[in-house]
Amino acid sequence: MAFVHFYIFLISFSLTYSCDVFVGIRCTCYDSNEIRCTMSKFAPLVFSSTSVSTTRKFHAIDLKIETDEEIELGNNYFLILNQLLPDVAKKSVSMTFRFQNFESFHARAGSFANLFQGITSTTKRLTIELHPVKAKTITFDQNAFDNLHVNELSMYADSLSSPFESIFNNTNITHLNIEGAIVAHEPSLLRDFTGHIQSLKITRMIDSVNSEEFPPFPVQSYTIEAHKMRTLDTLSFANYTQLTGLNIIQPDVSITPKILDGLERVSNLKSISFDAERIADGALKHVKHIQTLILGSYLKILDVESLNSLKDLQQLDVRYVQFSTLQGTTSCSLADFINRRRMLGLTVYLPDDNPDCDCILVFLNNMVDDGSQLVKCQSTNNDRCLFSSCPIVSEYFTRKQKEDLEDQQKLNTPSVITPSSPAIVPFEPPSVDFNDNAIPEYPDEKIDEDERTTTTQSPIEGMLYDDTDFLTKPVDHQPVTVTSLLFDPEETHNEFSTPLMKRIHPDSKQYQSSKYLTVSWIPFAIIASCLCLTLVISIISYIIYHKRRIATFKLVPQTAPII
Ligand SMILES: *[C@@H]1O[C@H](CO)[C@@H](O)[C@H](O)[C@H]1NC(C)=O
Ligand SMILES: *[C@@H]1O[C@H](CO)[C@@H](O)[C@H](O)[C@H]1NC(C)=O
Ligand SMILES: *[C@@H]1O[C@H](CO)[C@@H](O)[C@H](O)[C@H]1NC(C)=O
Repeated sequence: MAFVHFYIFLISFSLTYSCDVFVGIRCTCYDSNEIRCTMSKFAPLVFSSTSVSTTRKFHAIDLKIETDEEIELGNNYFLILNQLLPDVAKKSVSMTFRFQNFESFHARAGSFANLFQGITSTTKRLTIELHPVKAKTITFDQNAFDNLHVNELSMYADSLSSPFESIFNNTNITHLNIEGAIVAHEPSLLRDFTGHIQSLKITRMIDSVNSEEFPPFPVQSYTIEAHKMRTLDTLSFANYTQLTGLNIIQPDVSITPKILDGLERVSNLKSISFDAERIADGALKHVKHIQTLILGSYLKILDVESLNSLKDLQQLDVRYVQFSTLQGTTSCSLADFINRRRMLGLTVYLPDDNPDCDCILVFLNNMVDDGSQLVKCQSTNNDRCLFSSCPIVSEYFTRKQKEDLEDQQKLNTPSVITPSSPAIVPFEPPSVDFNDNAIPEYPDEKIDEDERTTTTQSPIEGMLYDDTDFLTKPVDHQPVTVTSLLFDPEETHNEFSTPLMKRIHPDSKQYQSSKYLTVSWIPFAIIASCLCLTLVISIISYIIYHKRRIATFKLVPQTAPII
């Protein structure tokens, strides 16, 4: 045991070690080309004389500034960090700044200027988290991000003080995510605004969603994510040609036609997410023109009649929907809708896993996806699915059972010619109740397992960024504000996922449960091979022993005459 501990210690020692970079700052370097530093006394960033900055380059820089002082960032405060990045990076490069417990925060003009300048990388990502002791102590001056060209800038703050057009002036940002903060808009500055922001997402916990709380910022595409909303003033958004996305997360009301009335006038609205318990009759008729619909895990009741009115729907994401807790008619008509519309080219994202072996999901998995759940759940012979209250599902499984029986009869005839060798029997997955045709089904399952791995990834194919930080993200990465917990920067570029819903269902958990069935045959295989080995050894030793006996027996008459 001590040896194991020592070994683990050795491994961890080789992966992380403290390294000297800046004067007066504690840093840890990781073999994964990551560096994390904690500054406890606010001071300018200066490389130490023995700094690794000349010899090592990093893909991810994480700087935590934990101090109760008044923080004042001057022009190009962080510029020195560019020297820690590789000139050309095949992977993404990122910088994360976390300010905690400060009395006040003031970012002067150009304090985040020119970051990543001269660096070639597929993705450049900047994250800034501000966790003040008191509310409204954060100030960003004009052109704080001057000449910043990044694929993603994510900010967590309760306020930013200056207008949007002033702070983000002279930038080029593909995805800008602002979470928690009320951001002001100043139309008079628009004339001098030289920022290029492709998509903006603003996430807030808010009672009333209207154009005052979410002003018409000068961006190409704009997504509003409102948590705990009560009212939606759709008319105030009538002239928002840039508004392409609306995420209504855990609203304090049901989604009724009255709530959504007027959204038909938001002409460029393309994507809607609802994480609500009930989407009432006819509500979706006000968003007929949307192309993407994402449903969340809170959903219980959905009027499918109004789902049918979504004529332009191209993507339906039900990955987070808990099919087992959906109202029966809802899940049945949802299955019917998906089954019909998939023929017309609807792309459907289903949950990665089905731990309860929900029959409707097994059916959909077979229709839309790889059908791997059919084997895993063995639902063909499962009464639950044969007698499902959803006709489309019960009919499907009845038909499937009939086909399988016919297949089996065909297979059983030649099975006399190829008798199952006893050596193969232990390889049969014992926890799955195979219907005595174990040999043909076993390779199927193996193929399915491989396919499943690829299809699980398919919904996030649009992701541009690698997830290296995602894995190493520390717990305290989550911001203080309540809404902050609902936000995941790694996902924001993915229009089809609402980060909150993703967090509630971590994929890793689901993976394990599904692996169980396929992994469980391994011990049996080991036992079988041990038995075989023992048998072979005993046969050999028997033969040797027997030969010896014959030999000694023959020797006796030879030796006898000598005596
Ligand atoms: C902004 O950056 C993108 C790619 O990074 C580039 O294609 C575009 O021309 C830039 N726009 C401006 C105005 O610099
Ligand atoms: C934006 O920056 C430019 C210089 O880079 C400046 O001339 C202009 O006044 C600024 N506009 C705003 C709205 O701050
Ligand atoms: C939208 O634009 C029209 C014409 O430009 C204007 O009359 C109307 O008041 C605007 N609506 C809102 C809510 O700003």
